[in-house]
Amino acid sequence: MDDQIDQVAEMIRTAESIVVLTGAGISAESGLRTFRGASQADLPANMQALWKEFDPIKLATPEAFDADPAGVSKWYDWRRLGCLAAEPNPGHTSLAEIERRAAARSARFTLLTQNVDRLHQKAGCRNVVELHGSIIQWRCTSCETKVTPGLDPMPAFPQRSSCCPTDQKAILRPDVVWFGEALPFEALRATDEALATCDLFLSIGTSSVVHPAASFIQVAAGNGAHTVEINPEATPISRMVDVSLRGKSGEVLPRIVEALRG
Ligand code: OAD
Repeated sequence: MDDQIDQVAEMIRTAESIVVLTGAGISAESGLRTFRGASQADLPANMQALWKEFDPIKLATPEAFDADPAGVSKWYDWRRLGCLAAEPNPGHTSLAEIERRAAARSARFTLLTQNVDRLHQKAGCRNVVELHGSIIQWRCTSCETKVTPGLDPMPAFPQRSSCCPTDQKAILRPDVVWFGEALPFEALRATDEALATCDLFLSIGTSSVVHPAASFIQVAAGNGAHTVEINPEATPISRMVDVSLRGKSGEVLPRIVEALRG
């Protein structure tokens, strides 16, 4: 793998516009569960992929929230607390360093993430586009006001919105994108702009099965960008990328940064 690490470091060193797409895998080494992925025999049952234990249709759709606002809110609050307690791992901090190095030579760096945990920002990344929103932030179902609940579990499920006290139907929902919902307009605009100029695209810790994020790599490759994947498992894009680094992002990315430091 050493040659591939050097090859990717050289691509990063010379790129004018880098786009990184991340998924749940980059936060796995921070102790957060992925949604899919091969069963990991070394992990206890309560650390296996979320969609193996829970049904996304009953939790991650607007219909599920309408049918059971208490149950869905409670599940998302449980995950919110897990995200708040988590710390960035060397994968996150390495991307922050890659961004700083790009900025120092006036190259462009855009991090598109499907993650809702805010760990990239906690690690010091600046230009982060949250494609699927954030679980740290919630919003009123009536007036869309955003709120950031504290470190304790929410006092009630569902939680009434304090911004609309007279509206009996106004409750808080996580500010995430559920299946069947559109991605935030501003996130899509920033993505289109970044993909149009990108000459290096890295796909890290994503199973590459959820669209539209899964198809961004085709857009980048179509524009002539070099493509790289970092993932311990094969995915639908593994065969099409220029370089496939089969390993954990918390181990592979620090090696790339080491090569960059030279
Ligand atoms: P997935 O859970 O689908 O995929 C996680 C990927 O991370 C898998 O390909 C794993 O092989 C890989 N992985 C596991 N450990 C890793 C490590 N240490 N380093 C690098 N990679 C590792 O997560 P996403 O692709 O992010 O949406 O899923 C996309 C969307 O599907 C999520 O945003 C979520 C989910 O349903 C909604 O909830 C709407």
